[in-house]
Amino acid sequence: MKKMIIHGGKPLKGDVWIGGAKNSTVALIPASILSRTTVVLEGVPRIADVDNLMDLLGEMDVKCKFEETTLTIDPENIKRSPLPAGKIKSLRASYYFMGALLGRFGKAVVGFPGGDDIGPRPIDQHIRGFEALGANVENEDDKIIITAPEEGLRGAKISLAMPSVGATMNIIMASVTANGQTVIENAAKEPEIIDLAIFLNNMGAVIRGAGTDTIRINGVSQLKAKASHTIIPDRIEAGTYISLAACIGNGIRIHNVITEHLDSYLAKIEEMGVVTDVDEDSIFVYPAGDLKMVQIKTEPYPGFATDLQQPITPLLLTAKTGEGIIIDNIYPKRVGHVPELRKMGGEICVENNIILIHPSSKLKGMDVNAGEIRAGAALMIAGLMADGETVIHNAGNILRGYDRVQDKIRKLGGDITVVEE
Ligand code: EPU
Repeated sequence: MKKMIIHGGKPLKGDVWIGGAKNSTVALIPASILSRTTVVLEGVPRIADVDNLMDLLGEMDVKCKFEETTLTIDPENIKRSPLPAGKIKSLRASYYFMGALLGRFGKAVVGFPGGDDIGPRPIDQHIRGFEALGANVENEDDKIIITAPEEGLRGAKISLAMPSVGATMNIIMASVTANGQTVIENAAKEPEIIDLAIFLNNMGAVIRGAGTDTIRINGVSQLKAKASHTIIPDRIEAGTYISLAACIGNGIRIHNVITEHLDSYLAKIEEMGVVTDVDEDSIFVYPAGDLKMVQIKTEPYPGFATDLQQPITPLLLTAKTGEGIIIDNIYPKRVGHVPELRKMGGEICVENNIILIHPSSKLKGMDVNAGEIRAGAALMIAGLMADGETVIHNAGNILRGYDRVQDKIRKLGGDITVVEE
């Protein structure tokens, strides 16, 4: 158990470089086992989720080497091993081993995934997809057993009930080696889906339409990695630093950004009155003047991302006029940051899953709890803004997904340390 100690109130200034996208990385690592040859991933973030996925690969005798931001994965001697418990519970994304193992071996035995406490997170669409490809799916104790028919998976038309990121990625992984064509309709359009498709296509897969709502996959017999793949920058990490810069920055440039991935987010902060300079691959955030409240509704990409709803909340607390409203349509119960921000003096509450925010006076340092990753990010920003000392318990939830966060914030002038509880 770790805690983050912050002495707030100091303006931050300088440059910060964004790491590779967590939600891409956590799919590409399991997808690597679809390759018969060594995979090299560049731009891999230093986050706890990656360490956990490497441990899971180790259980299957897949060799990994992680140096700086380059992760080499050698699946040549992979053994088909069940992954019923242990590390599988430590992160949500371990569900990608279902699609990856099914695509590679025609069989997957995987424990129910763990992950953030942000309300119910069913995986019925993943299962429906595997079944449509001809697999038999059984639940046994706390694990799922997925078995392809003897003649292998067969391509199918699958229309998702909602554009689920996880289901889209999992069905892609399972179907790249299926017989015939698979069509995913109402597919998720997040940039991480495109990253997965580029990664797999460079290994010989035939995936067309990633980034649109219809993806077509023509099955091939096997995949082989030939060149390294650079992971896209993390748009959620970038948005988090933009919020931090607008809350407490004295001029911060955020580098290594695909700015188009942040269009909805940038439109919202502009509406609040935040001034930015958006370049080809960096964003400069000017010290904010008097801001006004906005209303935010989260939506699938390219709408406002649910993962940025919590990190932007401290910024709304700094607004001087209006009433802020946040409605998270993807995860309505993702409100764990609200009571903690109230403790710090924020005028914020939840009514019927709607977050209501009023102009607040300066926050005060407090002992708070990071119930999950993005709630933790919101509290970290609040702690940097607040007068006095903030202690964030369960800070491991922040380190799960934010690349070298301590170093980056210290370099900007923030007083932040992480210690064991
Ligand atoms: N849903 C279902 N059934 C399913 C799948 C999804 O009902 O089978 C619902 C979910 O409950 C949710 C909506 O559909 O209401 C969208 O869920 P989605 O499947 O897109 O989410 P996910 O794949 O489980 C990923 C990210 C999340 C991010 C969401 C939405 C990973 C590992 N996780 O989750 O990231 O919030 O997409 O963009 O990629 C985070 O990084 O903080 C995080 C939680």
